[in-house]
Amino acid sequence: MNSNEVNIAIVGATGAAGGTALALLLERNHPADKITLMASERSAGRKLQYGDVELTVIHAKEEAFDGIDVALFAAGGMVSRRLAHKAVERGVFVIDKGSIFRMDPTIPLVVPEVNGDDIDWHPGIVSTPNCTSTPFVMVLDALRKLSAITAVTVATYQSVTGTGVAAKEELIEQFRTVLAGGKAEPNVYPHEIAFNVLPHVDDFLEDGYTKEEQKMLNESRKILHDENLLVSATCVRVPVEVSHSESVQIEFESSVSVADAKRVLDEYDGVIVVDDPSRNEYPMPLSATGRDEVLVGRIRKDIAHENGLVLWLACDNLRKGAALNALQIMDEALRRDAFKPAAQR
Ligand SMILES: NC(=O)c1ccc[n+]([C@@H]2O[C@H](COP(=O)([O-])OP(=O)(O)OC[C@H]3O[C@@H](n4cnc5c(N)ncnc54)[C@H](OP(=O)(O)O)[C@@H]3O)[C@@H](O)[C@H]2O)c1
Repeated sequence: MNSNEVNIAIVGATGAAGGTALALLLERNHPADKITLMASERSAGRKLQYGDVELTVIHAKEEAFDGIDVALFAAGGMVSRRLAHKAVERGVFVIDKGSIFRMDPTIPLVVPEVNGDDIDWHPGIVSTPNCTSTPFVMVLDALRKLSAITAVTVATYQSVTGTGVAAKEELIEQFRTVLAGGKAEPNVYPHEIAFNVLPHVDDFLEDGYTKEEQKMLNESRKILHDENLLVSATCVRVPVEVSHSESVQIEFESSVSVADAKRVLDEYDGVIVVDDPSRNEYPMPLSATGRDEVLVGRIRKDIAHENGLVLWLACDNLRKGAALNALQIMDEALRRDAFKPAAQR
């Protein structure tokens, strides 16, 4: 079956990740009559532009999934908890972008380039990683071909769209207010985000890390099938609209050359090396935004750790970090005949 024959529902279509999924479907010329947009009751009746067509948003509830083949859930954990299994009971293949199913051992957590095989054992739901984990595991997967990875230290620089539409609006509003001489009022975040950085993404845990930092460890281990991998993350919110960046320090079992690292990264599907300091070329959020690939650069030997490499990456958190990865899971599942569309049931 061709992916354009699939009846797709986007749950959370009015949000940042859901809106990007809709934009990606338009790029793929997915037929408008095979798209169902769902959101909360508040948005029922709202029209969203899809090329020349206006699509009407409906309230996400159980009955709305009849006739749907694939549902992309991007409406937060509570909605997934309430509706994902109900959709599966109606024969829908669910791809969930939230965090609630990610560490469930019965549900695969997939980045197709890394562990597409895991789609084969899905119970009706496949989960997608956190937007920081996705580019991170792709880079680690490429590099571990050169030598086993023993430990990774990563600092993230995460854009506000990672939090959603409300955070993006707050950033712009705060910039306007401060530039006009006013005092920014924080609402989405605990402090002002304009002209500031917050070393605080998601809730703090007892060990001093945050849940976001813990996700980078746990999700990497699950996707890479490596329970011994050590990841120490510091996740930071920065006043950037779209695309997350990461400073990554990797320790290997044996020495890895910069040239070999560039080669395996460049050969890896979905990764592009952008690394020419002599021309001021390196990955940046502005250059990653709107692109499907993970950009990697500043690749160099780590002078502080034997067998270490240091690099910098940038990735569009709404595309590969969310919506694109979900659509690639759908493509991979179709290729593997891993679910039955309604027309074939
Ligand atoms: N943003 C990212 O970079 C990113 C990356 C990976 C994963 N995700 C995940 O994607 C999900 C959505 O994140 P987001 O950033 O897109 O958030 P967002 O911009 O705040 O959008 C939230 C969406 O959920 C809908 N929603 C809220 N309550 C609902 C309800 N009771 N029933 C049905 N729909 C409801 C909203 O609809 P209304 O407009 O009607 O309120 C809206 O469409 C989260 O689970 C997040 O973890 C996001």
